[in-house]
Amino acid sequence: MTRVAIIGAGPSGMAQLRAFASAAAQGAEIPEIVCYEKQSDWGGQWNYTWRTGVDEYSEPVHSSMYRHLWSNGPKECLEFADYTFDDHFGRPISSYPPRAVLWDYINGRVAGAGLKNWVRLSTSVRRVEAHRSGGYLVTAEHLPSQTETTEQFDEVIVASGHFSYPNVPSFSGIETFPGPVVHAHDFRGAEHLAGKHLLVIGGSYSAEDIGIQSHKLGAASVTFSYRSAPMGFGWPQSLQEWPLVERFEGTAVHFADGRSRDFDAVVLATGYRHHFPFLSEELKLRTANTLYPDNLYKGVVYEGAPGFYYLGMQDQWFTFNMFDAQAWFVRDVILGRIGLPQAEQRRNDVNRWLSRMEAAATVRDDVQFQADYIKDLIEATDYPAFDLDTVVETFLEWKHDKKEDILTYRDRCYRSVMTGTVAVPHHTSWMQALDDSLEAYLTSAAAKAAAP
Ligand SMILES: Cc1cc2nc3c(=O)[nH]c(=O)nc-3n(C[C@H](O)[C@H](O)[C@H](O)COP(=O)(O)OP(=O)(O)OC[C@H]3O[C@@H](n4cnc5c(N)ncnc54)[C@H](O)[C@@H]3O)c2cc1C
Ligand SMILES: NC(=O)c1ccc[n+]([C@@H]2O[C@H](COP(=O)([O-])OP(=O)(O)OC[C@H]3O[C@@H](n4cnc5c(N)ncnc54)[C@H](OP(=O)(O)O)[C@@H]3O)[C@@H](O)[C@H]2O)c1
Repeated sequence: MTRVAIIGAGPSGMAQLRAFASAAAQGAEIPEIVCYEKQSDWGGQWNYTWRTGVDEYSEPVHSSMYRHLWSNGPKECLEFADYTFDDHFGRPISSYPPRAVLWDYINGRVAGAGLKNWVRLSTSVRRVEAHRSGGYLVTAEHLPSQTETTEQFDEVIVASGHFSYPNVPSFSGIETFPGPVVHAHDFRGAEHLAGKHLLVIGGSYSAEDIGIQSHKLGAASVTFSYRSAPMGFGWPQSLQEWPLVERFEGTAVHFADGRSRDFDAVVLATGYRHHFPFLSEELKLRTANTLYPDNLYKGVVYEGAPGFYYLGMQDQWFTFNMFDAQAWFVRDVILGRIGLPQAEQRRNDVNRWLSRMEAAATVRDDVQFQADYIKDLIEATDYPAFDLDTVVETFLEWKHDKKEDILTYRDRCYRSVMTGTVAVPHHTSWMQALDDSLEAYLTSAAAKAAAP
């Protein structure tokens, strides 16, 4: 029997499990599947941990999420086509749920189906190498028992994520800064920043969200330092965008435009690296964070080795439903339902997408690019088609709403293209919501109002 290894049980790996399970439910004969997950539960980034650095087994901590992390895009843009929010919650909810609610949703789709039996939890993949007689050898350690096993697989799917290994630049004199300096990967909450002056280096999603979290939890000021361009939101007065840091001198930080200011704490929101320490050299995908990494046919089939695939390696506008489209495609390649064209045709196909990506000039072009990529995949499989063009409009509405008010955009509501359901406002506006638990979130507005 064909054996398939999946590395990682985050949303991408879980999509792959679901894809195979759905084929099996329709009577297909599926391969033997072994999914390795180094954390003690599935959910990937959405599996929050208080730990930073290394975990209880001295394993690098995977998740970069923090307390009070709420979805930063509308849930209507990430919804699964085969398991909607209405299916899961049975009633409309708001458009920007907190982390625990989204974990509950992705868990709900796969929890009841016995799919955890395919997952080896607390098991970290140490090495993957091509086997001389074909296929791959996967060596993994069961962390609690410290036992290592090596098994042979015909096909390997890497779904280990790419927002876990931080990109950590240095700045002149930073070693003289007496306060805490952490990368966003190790940021777990902003409570300790109340009354403090915070410097956030970076100009993208992590910088923006850590900055407004810190403002929400009482930071005296937040200064963003950008390399390429300011984010340009209508910030409240105590939030400002300055150019790049030139040097540190103790608590004083000097910026490229000659200004300087004292700070109490620094967060490096400087992004992440695609990093696969467990793969042999020829199997490693080498890419920056981009909408179409090179050497992946259809964004998933690795050109460097046969029977080797990557999921979720793209920069992400779309997330969960894009991982589904990819997982269904990979499943069908493995099941022989989709035949791969010759190498030259595959190269031409990749080149076409790369040229189009390079020509993209606007946010609309970028979002439409990813929507069209997903359409291309879905057309080849039986994943339920959905109205991706309308989801593009929802993304643009989201961008507009953020520009209008960066502190209240999470109170907005959007319509699901899967069900037509319009989201309902959360019982507490985001700026006032300080309990991000599933229980508090699901408490109805009426019950909340009646509570003492
Ligand atoms: C701070 C932050 C906030 C985000 N917020 C949002 C949001 O609001 N909305 C949204 O749609 N997306 C968000 N994302 C994007 C997020 O990356 C995706 O939602 C999603 O988690 C990606 O799924 P994945 O399975 O590809 O990767 P991951 O979620 O990273 O999962 C990878 C899995 O692989 C496992 N793994 C890694 N290495 C090994 C190994 N050697 N052996 C065994 N297992 C291994 C990890 O433990 C992990 O479980 C956020 C990302 C970050 C970093
Ligand atoms: N749910 C949430 O609220 C939430 C919160 C945080 C993150 N996220 C998600 O997490 C993912 C990662 O986002 P991210 O912001 O961490 O990474 P990112 O989007 O890749 O952005 C990295 C940022 O770091 C900057 N940078 C890199 N090297 C630098 C250097 N040497 N000096 C100064 N700046 C440097 C980049 O600047 P340039 O622009 O110059 O390249 C860029 O602004 C995204 O998918 C995002 O949606 C979600």
